[in-house]
Amino acid sequence: MFPIHRGRRLRVNESIRSLVRETSLSPADFMFPMFIMEGENTKAEIPSMPGIFRRTLDLTVEEVKELFALGIRAVNLYVKVSDDLKDNTGKEAWNDNGLMQRAIRAIKAACPEMIVMPDVALDPYSIYGHDGIIEKGDVANDPTNDALVKMAVSHAKAGADFVAPSDMMDGRVLRLRQGLDAAGFHNVGIMSYSAKYASAFYGPFRDALDSAPKDVDVEVPKDKKTYQMDYANRIEAVKEALWDVEEGADMVMVKPGIAYLDIVREVKNAVDVPVTVFHVSGEYAMIKAASERGWLDHDKIMMEQLMCIKRAGASLISTYFAKEAAILLNQK
Ligand code: PBG
Repeated sequence: MFPIHRGRRLRVNESIRSLVRETSLSPADFMFPMFIMEGENTKAEIPSMPGIFRRTLDLTVEEVKELFALGIRAVNLYVKVSDDLKDNTGKEAWNDNGLMQRAIRAIKAACPEMIVMPDVALDPYSIYGHDGIIEKGDVANDPTNDALVKMAVSHAKAGADFVAPSDMMDGRVLRLRQGLDAAGFHNVGIMSYSAKYASAFYGPFRDALDSAPKDVDVEVPKDKKTYQMDYANRIEAVKEALWDVEEGADMVMVKPGIAYLDIVREVKNAVDVPVTVFHVSGEYAMIKAASERGWLDHDKIMMEQLMCIKRAGASLISTYFAKEAAILLNQK
């Protein structure tokens, strides 16, 4: 008998393909990253991210309601902070009445069931654009952790469901867990950016928040390689994820996405908590740019990438495509 195996029987038509499909996507798989700015009734498109906007609080709340109606259940929040509020300590980050804290309160008031995950890192608040406090020419680990604890507690007080440390300081998950518990926030979770690589894929995000590393009065590192991971490394990602779980992370993240799916699977096999993948700004920009030129089919590439991220082991995908993909999925 030849051939012995006829794998094509399971691919004859869409019905049989749908019966044997191993992975599925739904709007609840997505988190939508949102950029927030001061002001009223205004949104500004980010030039390197067509279709993605910085929004004022009022418009952010409207957008969150739309996302919820589409089936999206989580948002990650990032704020654009005005220059006069930036310094080296990042102290605006734990201002209980800061833009982030007001955003969390407004979203939770309007849409209590939306899971709100504010970003915990000092870069939007730092005059140097670094994720922590600069001392002696580099980001100082332990003083930065002290600041991050104050920031996370302030987010919890405002009503955050989870905090999402994206700073890559050593020991910050344990410090955040202790700080949140001491303040009575036992049920506020930690989604840790465990394996966050020093990546050129974050370029458009830094445009959105005006947060690229820069010298002001003293010389600072031009990149984030002393804290974010070297993209040549795989075993290190597992180590970082296991440390974070041991320190109390409820979920871990791998970032970026598509070029790092080997890491996603490796981490997924190593930990017993949900793995989140961040499909980052540069990945979004590439698909938008190529499809604007007619070189790629936008919707097909979007769905293929999201499905592949899920297949690799993601429980949640943080993606700028969340809304567009949810609309497509809901049409089916
Ligand atoms: C900052 C932060 C970055 C992103 C999320 N949080 C940028 C950076 O580390 O420089 C990138 C997200 C994206 O590119 O979409 N702590």
